[in-house]
Parts: sequence; C-alpha cells; structure tokens
Amino acid sequence: MVKDQIEALRRELEQHNYNYYVLSSPTISDKEFDTKLRQLQELEEQHPEFFDANSPTQRVGSDITSGFEQVAHVYPMLSLGNTYSLAEVQDFYERVRKGLNEDFELVCELKYDGTSISLTYENGNLLRAVTRGDGEKGDDVTANVKTIRSIPLRLQGNYPPMFEIRGEILMPWSVFEELNIERERQEEPLFANPRNAASGTLKLQSSKQVAARKLDAYFYYMLGENLPAELHSGNLAAAKSWGFKISDATKVCRSLEEVAEFINYWDVERKNLPVATDGIVIKVNSLNQQKNLGFTAKSPRWAIAYKFQAEQAVTRLNSVSYQVGRTGAVTPVANLDPVQLSGTTVKRASLHNADIIESLDLHIGDMVFVEKGGEIIPKITAVDKVARETNFMMGDKVKFIKNCPECGAALMRIEGEAAHYCPNENACPPQIKGKIEHFVSRRAMNIDGLGSETINLLYQNDLLHNIADIFELKVPDLSRLERLGTKSAYNIKDGVEKSKEVPFERVLFALGIRFVGETVAKKLAFAFKDIEAIEQATLEKLIAVDEIGERIAQSVIRYFADAANIEIVSRLKSYGLQMSLTEEKLQARGEALAGLSIVISGTFALHSRDEYKTMIEMNGGKNVGSVSAKTSFILAGENMGPEKLKKAEKLGVKLVDEKTFLTMINAEQQEETQQGLLF
Ligand code: IVH
Repeated sequence: MVKDQIEALRRELEQHNYNYYVLSSPTISDKEFDTKLRQLQELEEQHPEFFDANSPTQRVGSDITSGFEQVAHVYPMLSLGNTYSLAEVQDFYERVRKGLNEDFELVCELKYDGTSISLTYENGNLLRAVTRGDGEKGDDVTANVKTIRSIPLRLQGNYPPMFEIRGEILMPWSVFEELNIERERQEEPLFANPRNAASGTLKLQSSKQVAARKLDAYFYYMLGENLPAELHSGNLAAAKSWGFKISDATKVCRSLEEVAEFINYWDVERKNLPVATDGIVIKVNSLNQQKNLGFTAKSPRWAIAYKFQAEQAVTRLNSVSYQVGRTGAVTPVANLDPVQLSGTTVKRASLHNADIIESLDLHIGDMVFVEKGGEIIPKITAVDKVARETNFMMGDKVKFIKNCPECGAALMRIEGEAAHYCPNENACPPQIKGKIEHFVSRRAMNIDGLGSETINLLYQNDLLHNIADIFELKVPDLSRLERLGTKSAYNIKDGVEKSKEVPFERVLFALGIRFVGETVAKKLAFAFKDIEAIEQATLEKLIAVDEIGERIAQSVIRYFADAANIEIVSRLKSYGLQMSLTEEKLQARGEALAGLSIVISGTFALHSRDEYKTMIEMNGGKNVGSVSAKTSFILAGENMGPEKLKKAEKLGVKLVDEKTFLTMINAEQQEETQQGLLF
C-alpha cells in the first residue's frame, strides 16, 4: 500500500521534472511540485525500507564529502578530429565516401562546449556517472550528476537492460553570469567561461552546492550491446523517448551541401542559444558503417568536429600599460589600434599575466589576433609572425615590468600565483586611494560624499594618506578645496561621525585585507570577537574557522605583520570605531531563522535593508539575492520589484512584512512563528 503510494508519487514527480527541465513546459506550479516532493520525503523518512537511490528526493544533494573514486571506462572516451573550414569538411566527406564505397548519410549536431560525461543505466536506473578523465578512466561523479534536473534518474519505455550514454554537462550563460557576479562580490577568482565553470562545479565536493548551480545536459552518443536502432539518429530518437534531453538542432544530411547549410545556419543562430557551443559535429549515421570505418588511435574515422571561428580580429599592438588595483595586483593591458569585434570597438585587451606575455613572444608593433570567444574581456591569442617580416615598425620585446608603475616599488610574486603584486600597500597611490574608496563604500563604512574624485583631491592636497586620516579631516580644510562647499564639508564630517557606529564585522571588511570579503569578515568577527584576537591569531587558529582556508589565513597574517597596518588599526580604535562585537550582538545571536533562505525586497520604514540583512544572519538565516523554489520567504517592503513579485506568486513563496518579521525574530515568539511560516 504505502509502497505503491511512494512509487506513484515518484513516477508523478519524475514526469513533472521531465516536463519542466527537458520539455520546458511545466504542467503544475512549483508550489504543487514542492508539496508533493515534501509528501514523498515524509513517506520515505517513515519507511526507510523503501529507499531508492534514484528517487526524485535524492536530487537535492548533500554536504558529505567523499572524494571521487576513479572508474575505468568500458569504452574509452575518445575525442574528435577538428576542422576549421568547409574545405577540411569536404576532405572528411571524401575520406568517408572512399572508405565506404556505398551510399551513406551524415548526422549534423551542435558541438556543445561544456564538460563531457558518460552515464551508465542498468534496467532503466542511473547507475553511474563518470567524467572523461584521461579517456581511459575518469572520476565517479554520480552524486553530483543526480542533482542535474534534466538528467533522468529512471527511464521510461523500452530501453536495453544495460547501456551507456554520453553527453555534455553545461552551465547556461545566465547561471554563469550570475555566478561570476557573486564570486566577484566575494572576491573569489572568476570563471573564464561556462565550460570551466561547469567542470569546476562537477568536481565540487558538496553535491548540495552543485544542485544550487543549475547545470544542464545534452546527450549525443549511445553505446552498448543491444541498442534499439541501426542508425545513430534512431538511437537519439529512442533516447529522447526514454527521457533524455536531445538537441532539436540535429539533422540527417545526404549531401555536403546540406552539411554546409547546417553549419552556416547555426554559426549565426547559436548566439541565441542559452548554452555555449563551439562547433558542429558531423557523424556517419549507420552504426554498421561506423564500425567499418573504425577508429584511429585518438578519434573515430566516422565523425569530425567543425569548429566555429572564434570572433577574431587582427590589429596592431601599440603599447602595454600596467594597472595597479586596490589590492596591489598588477594587470598588464594591451593598447591596440581600434578594431571592430562582434559589434563593439576594441581598443584594449587583457594580457592577464607575465607568463602569458612571455608565451606569446609579444613585441611592440606586432599585429596580434584579438578574440572574444566565450570570455568577457577580449584577449590576445596569437601574434601574426608572418606580418613581422614586412613590418618596419617592430619595436622591443614586451618584458613584464619589475617595478610598480605608480610608486616604483619592486614587484613581487606570491608562490603559486600568476599575478605580480606591488607590496607597497600603504604608500602606493592607487592602492591608497583604492583602499580609501573601499573603506567609505556603502557596504563598508558607508560614508557619503567621499567619491573617488574627492578622495583624489584630498590625497593630492595632502589631507588624506590612509583610511585613518579620514577621521582627522576638518571642515575648514575640506571646504577650502575647490569644488567642495561648506555644505558638502559638513555632510562628509557627518558621515564620518556616523560611521563610528558601524558594527565590527563591517569595519573589518572595510579595512580591505586581501581576500577578506563581507562573508569572511563576518566569519572572522564572530569567531574571534575582537580585533586584538584576530591580530594575534595563529595560522592554525584562523584555518580552524569555517570557510577560512590557507590563502585567506595567510593574507590576514600578512596584513597584521605590517607595522603600518597595526598603527592604522590602533588609530581607528582611538577615534571610537567598533573594534569588537557588541555584547548585545554576542547575545542576540539566535536560531529563529536557522536553515531559512530569505530574500529582501522593496523599501522599508523601520530599519535599513542592511540592518535587516544583519538581523537575518544574526538569527541563523541566509540572505539570498534571487527568488527560487528554495526561498523560505521574502521580507517584503514597499514597492517590491514586479519581477520578484511575479516569481514569488508563481512559486508560492510567502511574503512577510517588516513588522511580522521583527516579531518572528523576537525570541519569545520564535517557535510559533517558525511553524506558521513554513506553510
Ligand atoms: S560525439 C567518439 N557529439 O566534443 C566521439 N561530442 O572533441 C564521441 N561534444 O568529447 C563524441 N558536442 O565532449 C560528440 N554533439 C556532440 C558533441 C560532442 C560536444 C564534445 C565531447 C567530445 C568532444 C570531442
């Protein structure tokens, strides 16, 4: 009885998953889906004897880290030969024609630019998911792959008892962009393209985190003993009927002209797809003919990839300049003759670091290839060496600078990192100004009126050399500056005074210690309670804090090893800045919102948005940016964004006004409200 009920719920949820993630046409609301899923979860909890590793409840992932086991591929995972022109595709066509000496069909598909995966199904159940690895053996990433909603865990219809299916795991552009925005905010290194982001995600140790990254997958190749069809296209159609996501951009072609047409069409149209593609794959359709053609050591003779031209332009390198950021990182930038590249004029391109400059063998005056590809900033991919022979203007070889272009200090390189740094953090102008800008910014000390121009002005007038000097600024000094009136001067002074109430964790963030973003600052503040404890903390003690690794810990130690920083911190303390957690805060830390994800939206009358954010964190909740099915509720103020509202309605996420919220976090009422809030 119960078993049937559980089974029926699983089938129903599987169908809804398929409708939503594969067909993109849901037939029930997310709220109904969640209710059913919760129902299933409860039944499974009450009846552990009916556990199923492929139940829809298993898609949420877990935090358990286990490392990845290496698994040998039954059939090696080979790569494809690449071609870059129609002429080369024609060569392939001729080779196939000669090799077969009979009529043949080709299947054209998109070449998805993600990370390849091989899935094994046994009796319609997902048994294992393995990465390509070295082609012979890969990592077993089954737990992570199960969180990808468009991958069926159980199949429908008439499938062979055992088979493998291969495809590509992808991170959609929209998810990739959102992820990078968040990483930038957390001062984490950005992913260069969705491919790296997808493969990085697949290797995460927590499948819960993988689930949050919203990966997608397309399948394009089936292997096994009893495949349903004699044709590749037939197998894809069968796989589609079992529940796999098979691209609609798949076409059986009977001539080279049809192949060319497919290539030309998708070269343009691919830009409208939600995921990255980097070419076309052309395969012989008949499995029998595939077998006759066979493989070379590295790749099949029956298939080839045609790679799209990355968006590329050629232009002259005029000079290389070096930018010094707030943290002292030195970025080389190429200054180019302006050139058109996919709709924009490009004048500058990133050169990333010294190693890249060296490997390109760059000379001033060189004609260089600039590409946009999947990257955000255009980059130089190669030098046109032939053009050098007729180039009378070729200048010196580009050598990475040894000294900071701003302050002259000798640059250094931290072991294991590609970037050069200017270590002169307290006397190098862009670092000083950058640090001050960061210190006064809204999320840090929130001092109004001190924009970058004003900071520059104060710096040039010798009134501001470091963040502590801000507290010594006098109204007459300020108002005497050009462009700055008495009113603005008073405003600044006012903002400076108010900042003395900014809580410790934000002061810590405001100091601008490398790698100490908002989240890390909070973790440190709550773990050590005051600045002295952080100053004295050993590497071991720092690393013992949740989410703090060696890189961050080393950076904190480096910061406090510098006497100039110690002096700044002690001056800040003497001006009355908050350098420890208030007693209130220590005690106020509650659990009323433990485990809840809360979105803040709209404007509020009683407290500021940031205050609400702190309240959420202080009560064990998590403040998240966008509404999803996982959002527990929205703390809604006036004029909530229409998009958020629509989404909340669609997903059935509850809105909570500020008054209700404040009673919720009031300890006495904690229990009742928590219960009332979940449904
Ligand atoms: S077929 C034996 N089809 O490109 C050939 N591969 O360089 C099996 N890829 O490893 C691969 N889209 O990761 C095939 N429609 C497609 C593909 C595709 C992307 C990737 C895959 C493969 C690599 C080949």
